[in-house]
Amino acid sequence: MDFSLSTTEASAVATRPAIAPSDSDALWWRNAVIYQVYIRSFADGNGDGTGDLAGVRAHLPYLRELGVDAIWFTPWYASPLADGGYDVSDYRQIHPAFGGLADAEALIEEALALGIRTIIDVVPNHVSNEHPWFQEALAAAPGSPERKRFWFHPGAGPNGDEMPTRWVSNFSGDTWTRTTQPDGTPGEWYLHLFTPEQPDLNWDHPDVRREHEDILRFWFDRGVAGIRIDSAALLVKDAALPEVPENPRPGEHPNTDRDELHDIYRSWRELADSYPGARVLVGEIWLPDTKRFAMYLRPNELHTAFNFDFMARRWEAPALRQSIDATLAAHAPVHAPATWVLSNHDVTRPVTRYGREDSSFAFATKRFGIPTDLDLGTRRARAAALLTAALPGTLYIYQGDELGLPEVETLPREVLQDPMHFRSNGIDPGRDGCRVPLPWSGSVAPFGFSASATVTPWLPQPASWAALTVEAQEGDPTSMLWLYRNALRIRAALPSLVDSDLAWLDSSDEVLAFSRGDDFVNITNLSDVNIALPPGADVLLSSLPLDDGRLPPDSTAWLRTQQ
Ligand code: GLC
Repeated sequence: MDFSLSTTEASAVATRPAIAPSDSDALWWRNAVIYQVYIRSFADGNGDGTGDLAGVRAHLPYLRELGVDAIWFTPWYASPLADGGYDVSDYRQIHPAFGGLADAEALIEEALALGIRTIIDVVPNHVSNEHPWFQEALAAAPGSPERKRFWFHPGAGPNGDEMPTRWVSNFSGDTWTRTTQPDGTPGEWYLHLFTPEQPDLNWDHPDVRREHEDILRFWFDRGVAGIRIDSAALLVKDAALPEVPENPRPGEHPNTDRDELHDIYRSWRELADSYPGARVLVGEIWLPDTKRFAMYLRPNELHTAFNFDFMARRWEAPALRQSIDATLAAHAPVHAPATWVLSNHDVTRPVTRYGREDSSFAFATKRFGIPTDLDLGTRRARAAALLTAALPGTLYIYQGDELGLPEVETLPREVLQDPMHFRSNGIDPGRDGCRVPLPWSGSVAPFGFSASATVTPWLPQPASWAALTVEAQEGDPTSMLWLYRNALRIRAALPSLVDSDLAWLDSSDEVLAFSRGDDFVNITNLSDVNIALPPGADVLLSSLPLDDGRLPPDSTAWLRTQQ
């Protein structure tokens, strides 16, 4: 194997085989590289300023060259887009702005022919308020079967004008909205853990279970290889609707991590396993209790779940090491692979985050106007890209991170769309800044994002992105894009990075040094001085040029050691 960092990088790509849908490569998901496509912002094939399936199809060769094993698409279904598509009105239709069902089928097939599997996003906690079920429920009387598929409830207080519970929304604001009766008088309330446009489904209802199993079949039948399960720990509610206790015991929280969830996922797993070719379930699970988190990953439940703990940590070696250890320790007893995630469509881009004095991530501390040093952030994001790609398990890459895009913090308020911004009364900047359309080529917006050169994309791109286009980076071997391509090429070709355990090596507290197998070493330098590399090792890749053979601060080197 030749790991030289020459400018020819197509060899690994050329040998990647196409995957037949019936492929029995049963363990593909244990170490896959999964690229998250936020469709509205990936590429616009029809020139209307919004990304679409035609745009993705046109850029599949880009993803193949990047070296990804699968694409996870954020919701692509019919939706009023009150929450960027996480408010689904019809699971069996594609949003007309993105294309049609035939485009989705063609995309799944074309991607597979390039060796790339498709993972879709299913949002079982809630539907759109325009979903026929919710419309029927609103039209029906209190106590009717139509209402039982949701959480309709009389209000509290003498006149029923208080919310049935004081549960707090993940999006700030109330979790209940009052309905209006046909005669104009106030009626029952309905529950929505997110926006009022996203009414929560009642998972105690057999229709809800049946419908979702049917949705899974609908898409598995069309060849999708996996399902990302949105808000996977929220579906089940305590029907008695108690308030949230101050320190809930495990399983006691009325709307999060209820024990009954496991039964649902066991049935989904059975369904997924009834299809050929390892169809996988990936949970979006935000839980601080790692033991409870791992329960979802028992062998007959979900295959993997996102590990947000690592992503939320400060760029400090002890914190990251502790997160890596805790993550691997939590996964070991259930034999599930860990996942490594630097960002997604909900969180601040790493280049921006890591350039801040407080480089941790929390929704509660997202604010406008926090100073950031983008050069520092970019150096650290490069180091983090190699670090995460060297860890055992599945790697997620959010579109644009491979280009080193920063969070766009200068969007005019009038273009902002995210309900997180509006529901916080404008205090939370929202998530639009990480959802700005990708720059592909050229020197002026829309930077090749759109088939039309004159269209303004649904969120405007900053002029400074001229330097970050795919085209510009392809011509620059020091670019973030080259770093990602090289890293994924090495990761795919080196057996130690596929299935070996991690072993920490002796190092200072400010360095993350570990081996995988008997021939690979990762060294990430989070100190503020250059450090020596072990003698006799070949440098496969480094996130910054070495300085007289030494590894600079905020950089990672991958080494091949003698066997
Ligand atoms: C998940 C999604 C987020 C969405 C929310 C409600 O957290 O990642 O984008 O707003 O669920 O569906």
